[in-house]
Amino acid sequence: EHIPVLCVDGPTASGKGTVAAGVAQQLGYHYLDSGSLYRTAALAAVRAGIAIEAQHEARLAELARSLPVRFADGRIWLAGDEVTDAIRTEEAGMNASRISVLPLVRDALVALQLAFRQLPGLVADGRDMGTAIFPGAPLKVFLTASAAVRAERRHKQLISKGISSTIADLRAGLEARDARDASRSASPLQPAQDALPLDNSALSVDQTIAQVLDWWRARQ
Ligand code: C5P
Repeated sequence: EHIPVLCVDGPTASGKGTVAAGVAQQLGYHYLDSGSLYRTAALAAVRAGIAIEAQHEARLAELARSLPVRFADGRIWLAGDEVTDAIRTEEAGMNASRISVLPLVRDALVALQLAFRQLPGLVADGRDMGTAIFPGAPLKVFLTASAAVRAERRHKQLISKGISSTIADLRAGLEARDARDASRSASPLQPAQDALPLDNSALSVDQTIAQVLDWWRARQ
């Protein structure tokens, strides 16, 4: 059974989500936004009143293992509640980063991620798609952009949603999140050995998608 997987990993706000979803659409493949699982698990913990701390790792992992999450038409539900917007706040991202440090929580979310690998293929974005979840994937892209560009993009994104913020605060927040993601011992943010690095600071979304598709076609 051969179901192709393309991995797009990289730091916060590097454009992974937009690029991976665009590539998936072009190829007619399924799309996994693995960060949304960590965000939803963290939100479930907050709602259950469990502090996101190492001392509660076992309970948090249990919660993650039976996470009542459902995806449909680009929207996400936690139990009966739509959480599509609730998981996108900066606070939700920071909570996701804190829960994702815990190895038992990461283990608990593996099966859910593997289940996205379905015909005709999958594009998966996150931090450890190419290193831990789909290590045999034929194409792994490590997408980066400068911190200044990432903060600016996030700022525009938030403005379009009517959320106010400053570029300086956003930059500090994303650098703090990257530092935690890169320094944790369980599946840290780092390129797979066979990943192709792509700095999209000076590229448009379409140019970035086109580059990934070129690499993909070259592997067929
Ligand atoms: O990609 P996104 O910003 O939505 O991810 C939120 C957080 O979830 C990241 O900062 C990271 O800590 C965690 N994450 C992870 N592994 C993944 C995807 C996300 O640890 N594969």
